Amino acid sequence: MENKQIAITKFGGVDVLSTLTSDVPQPKPGEVVVKVVFSGVNPIDVKTRAGLGWAAAQNKDNLPWVPGYDIAGKIVAAGDNATRFEQGATVAGFIGFPLQGGGYSQYVCVSETELSLVPDAVTLEAAAVLPLAGQTAAQALNKAEVKEGDRVLILAGAGGVGHLAVQIAIAAKAEVFTSCSESNLDYMATLGAHAINYEFAPVSERVEEVDVLIDLIGGDAALDALKCLKDGARVVTVPTLSAELICEKAKLLGFEATGMLVDPNPEQLDTMLYMVSVGLLKTEIQQIFPYTQAQDAHLQIETGHTRGKVLLDMQC
Ligand SMILES: NC(=O)c1ccc[n+]([C@@H]2O[C@H](COP(=O)([O-])OP(=O)(O)OC[C@H]3O[C@@H](n4cnc5c(N)ncnc54)[C@H](OP(=O)(O)O)[C@@H]3O)[C@@H](O)[C@H]2O)c1
Repeated sequence: MENKQIAITKFGGVDVLSTLTSDVPQPKPGEVVVKVVFSGVNPIDVKTRAGLGWAAAQNKDNLPWVPGYDIAGKIVAAGDNATRFEQGATVAGFIGFPLQGGGYSQYVCVSETELSLVPDAVTLEAAAVLPLAGQTAAQALNKAEVKEGDRVLILAGAGGVGHLAVQIAIAAKAEVFTSCSESNLDYMATLGAHAINYEFAPVSERVEEVDVLIDLIGGDAALDALKCLKDGARVVTVPTLSAELICEKAKLLGFEATGMLVDPNPEQLDTMLYMVSVGLLKTEIQQIFPYTQAQDAHLQIETGHTRGKVLLDMQC
């Protein structure tokens, strides 16, 4: 059997993404082989492909490099001492983060401790949405100590991280305000948020007395949103590029502010899979591309207007 993978051959535009063919990898002790059905595409993959950010800097002498951190699929083999999962079990994981990647593969070896069992009630598509984006959402809200009754402003509620953050905050009984374009107003309202059309007027003119800002945009949008906050408010800014600037400005204004780097945590993924299985969390998928169209998947992310997630079908 062969293993097709999508690799970054050099840094640049989408044409540097190429298909590699190798043998199916052999598991080491404690590892399993996952036949990947869906792999998630995240903005960090696109930035790394373009040669931007620290994952690119760390991997510059390691090309071709296979990106991808989100996988959902089936166990097809196990190494010595890997006894946690049955053959054929459906699993999902946030793998190889940040430097190893490897999710854009048909077969991948993973330590069994990095994986979560996907409940029968959850599709593999939904499971592939959750790892990086869901854990970023949950960890940002945890860092901000969101609690019942808080007025929480989430910038970019319609995106991969945002649509999950909105729902987790609402499940925690916060009152959620979120910014989106006109085309996502109804979608955001369906999730239970107060949707604010950023195309119509700056967010700062539309919402006030905010306890918590979850910034998923950075830059000028985040600086404007600081004007919505009340005394003692907490800010978590997620895009790493502008985090230092936003934190500095927020602290000058007297707010608590921090950036973050998501940390893979299989138990947290178990919780999110459970939330999906009981209908507390709904995953949104803009489009699933065959892995042979990974270039189009990256172009979709580069629009900056993906609703929910983009996935690759690795077995088509
Ligand atoms: N630090 C970390 O560990 C970490 C982890 C995950 C992600 N991130 C970063 O966090 C950011 C969000 O990630 P993501 O996966 O959610 O990205 P994404 O899915 O690509 O976000 C797309 C969404 O952004 C919205 N959007 C675009 N411009 C906007 C604006 N001016 N105001 C409000 N919404 C706007 C779009 O909604 P409309 O179409 O309605 O405009 C779209 O739904 C990225 O920069 C990513 O790299 C960091």
